[in-house]
Amino acid sequence: MAALSRGWEVVGIKKGYGGLFAPDGSGLIDMDRDAVRGITHTGGTILGTSNRGNPFSWPVENDDGSWTELDRSADVTSAFDTAGIDALIAIGGDGSLSIAHELSMRGLPVVGVPKTIDNDVGSTFFTFGFVTACYIATDAIDRLHSTAESHDRVMIIEVMGRDAGWIAMHSGVAGSADVILIPEIPFGLDSVVEKICDRERHGRHFSIVVVAEGAAPAGEGQRTLEDAGAGREEARLGGVAEWLADRLEAETGKECRHLVLGHLQRGGVPAAYDRLLALRFGAAAVRSIEMRAFGTMVALQPPRVVAVPLAEAIRQRKLVPLDGDLVQTARDRGISLGD
Ligand code: F6P
Repeated sequence: MAALSRGWEVVGIKKGYGGLFAPDGSGLIDMDRDAVRGITHTGGTILGTSNRGNPFSWPVENDDGSWTELDRSADVTSAFDTAGIDALIAIGGDGSLSIAHELSMRGLPVVGVPKTIDNDVGSTFFTFGFVTACYIATDAIDRLHSTAESHDRVMIIEVMGRDAGWIAMHSGVAGSADVILIPEIPFGLDSVVEKICDRERHGRHFSIVVVAEGAAPAGEGQRTLEDAGAGREEARLGGVAEWLADRLEAETGKECRHLVLGHLQRGGVPAAYDRLLALRFGAAAVRSIEMRAFGTMVALQPPRVVAVPLAEAIRQRKLVPLDGDLVQTARDRGISLGD
């Protein structure tokens, strides 16, 4: 709306950069008022998305079923020229924003918008989607308390976040978990067992463990799923909750159950905070284009939304700081972080 109200013409690119390569402009859609009306309260994206569409290593299937990667970045620039596009707003997490940065280095006028439930993009306090995911994860932890407490069980819930423990920390502290395991802190099984047994000794016959999908025991690697799929940049993380449930049941003798929250964290009605953040980011991105501040990303630096260099934002993933008050709050509340 911010762009339309300036009289600009807006086109949406369907399915990431793949939309630019579709024949006869079929991957581009007109984003007029009708297209963007009444969607503020809906999750997902009307444009579609892809996590295997890096134009610098574009996956192409060979006749024998194997895959080759091609650099199609020049095709992006020429598709922009053909369609007469003056500027790109790239919306996504660190992968998408790194591609946007590369394209910007090659002269494409780009402004980034940080969107991921992982909250792991640098230079911004929050990415949009994160708060909604935390609400969903906290609600799930609240609901697990009933079964944990009535059945004297250890319930282990695996949440997303890739290499960052933001969702686990926020939902775990808000949901009064007993143990929170995050990728930033390699955990010791003994330490988790000790926490559960200590609760047992104090008459608390149940425990809630929140584990980030990227968390791993000290000295061991993250657990991944086999079927990453062709053209995917990163391995699929997953399985640590099941692994932990087996180990904890053997070590504590208590009934341990696991739950993988999965894509429930990425769907449904967005929280008011995320809606507002997305609208603020969108309007700020349009203002950046107006000022020709290309090669930047809009970022939340409370109370303001500012423009930061894309290079700065993607320099490194934003992880949970171990000396920050979030970790300290968890420790002060007696939550075990497995170390
Ligand atoms: O980056 C967002 C995210 O939801 C991660 O937390 C998770 O590891 C990944 O995407 C899952 O991706 P997919 O849905 O492609 O398996």
